[in-house]
Amino acid sequence: MAVHIKIQPSNHEFCLEGNDTILDAGVRAGLALNYGCANGNCGLCKARIVSGKVKKTRHHDYVLSEAEKNRDYVLMCACTAATDVVLEALEASGENDIPAQKITTKIKRIEQTTDNILTLHIQTPRIQRLRFLAGQSVTLSLDKSTRTDFPIASCPCDDRNLLFHIPCDSDTPFVQALIHNSKKGDTVTVTGPHGHFLLNEGSRRTQLYLAYGTGFAPIKSLIEHAMALETPATMNLFWVVDKKEDLYMNNLCRSWEDALDNFNYHPVIDTDAVEHLLEKHSRLEAVDVYIAGPETLTRCASEKLLAAGLPDTQLTVSTVD
Ligand code: FES
Repeated sequence: MAVHIKIQPSNHEFCLEGNDTILDAGVRAGLALNYGCANGNCGLCKARIVSGKVKKTRHHDYVLSEAEKNRDYVLMCACTAATDVVLEALEASGENDIPAQKITTKIKRIEQTTDNILTLHIQTPRIQRLRFLAGQSVTLSLDKSTRTDFPIASCPCDDRNLLFHIPCDSDTPFVQALIHNSKKGDTVTVTGPHGHFLLNEGSRRTQLYLAYGTGFAPIKSLIEHAMALETPATMNLFWVVDKKEDLYMNNLCRSWEDALDNFNYHPVIDTDAVEHLLEKHSRLEAVDVYIAGPETLTRCASEKLLAAGLPDTQLTVSTVD
């Protein structure tokens, strides 16, 4: 049976089923709860019970003081909810609330998604997951000479399994080493996260996503995060490519459109994406626009949209090489 958790002061809510920890259920629901090790060692996931009952699910090495115990503090990574619960807990409200991290991960899979794109799947240790916000990037390195920044193409709701879309035609040492010398089980060091290409979670305006090529990666992260939050806002994805084969996750986008009433997918092949977008959405004061892709294209699209009346506070841009 599912129980209901409410976090104060944000009033974010989510359901918890079975013996899930409160932390795991909250992260899966898209909340940016404060945590570190997720394993009972650091104390960063400390929260105060306002009402309801929790049940400890695992031993934790971190020691709560007597004063904390008396004030009903618990560790969210070491307990589940026995009843509906209201908790007072810290949540990140922006990139400055997320600490810099350095994590040694392992390659779980390298997949040739198309002739031009590799999907890199890396996994963090169970006790050191990457805390990040949807849309952010990290620096990946195989060794000291191969460091490159990439946007994370997955959702923070799965903080152990990190996905990246790697263009094979890049001649950076990292990409060349990945293509020619890397395999499952190899080590990748992740440093970060960084960047402020973030979802405006408080907005109820229609969301327009404009992805140029592999600019789809951070936009996928934003969309999956919006889905985890069950946003009521309408989402429209315009994915802009030169040819149909470059829509390397076309089926995924179509499956989102089939599954969700509030999601629309518009592949844009070799035409002016902004013109196309403006034909469908002329009331720019009623939308939030997220653009990701190469700098020349994102700059040009931004200028056109601002000139067409989009308020600059409703425009968020990420440059992806
Ligand atoms: S996240 Fe470290 S103790 Fe819970």
